[in-house]
Amino acid sequence: MDIEFLLNGETVRIADQPATRTLLDWLRETRKLTGAKEGCNEGDCGACTVMVTSLLDDEVRRQSLNACILFLPQLHGKSVRTVEGLKGPKGELHPVQSAMVEHHGSQCGFCTPGFVMATRAFLNQNPKASEEEIRKGLGGNLCRCGTYHGIMQCAMEIAKKGGA
Ligand code: FES
Ligand code: FES
Repeated sequence: MDIEFLLNGETVRIADQPATRTLLDWLRETRKLTGAKEGCNEGDCGACTVMVTSLLDDEVRRQSLNACILFLPQLHGKSVRTVEGLKGPKGELHPVQSAMVEHHGSQCGFCTPGFVMATRAFLNQNPKASEEEIRKGLGGNLCRCGTYHGIMQCAMEIAKKGGA
C-alpha cells in the first residue's frame, strides 16, 4: 500500500521506500528539506523536530515529534509540517521565528528549527500554557549553546499573545 500524507500542505504519495526509512532521512536526502537537523538520531535531542497533525477521537491534535525515530508508514493519513513550511504566503517569518530572533534564542542555530517547531506545536495545542508547562513542553529539545533563556522568552511572548 502506498503511504500518503501532507507535507507542508502538499499531498505526497510514497511507494518506493523501505518501511524502516525514517522521516528525517527521507526529508533531508530525498526531499532536500534540511531544516530538520540530525543530532543524536535516537530521539533524545529534538534537533529533528517536526509538527505532525492528526485526528484523534475526532479532534485535531498537533504534536512535535522527532523525525529521526518516525518511520514513513507511521505518517499515513497525517499532516507533517517542517520548518520550511512555517513561512507566510509572502515568505515572512512565522511569529515564533520572529520572537526567536527578537529574544536572541539562537546562537549557532543547530537546535533552532527544532525549538521553533516544538514551540509552534506546543503553543498551538496549549495556547494558554504557563511558564512551567512550557518548560515541560519543550523539555525534549536541547541546546548545546545554552540559549534557553532567549528560547523561553520567545515562548512566553507567544503564549502571552494567545498561542502559536
Ligand atoms: S536527531 Fe536528536 S532527537 Fe532526532
Ligand atoms: S543555538 Fe547552538 S545548539 Fe542551540
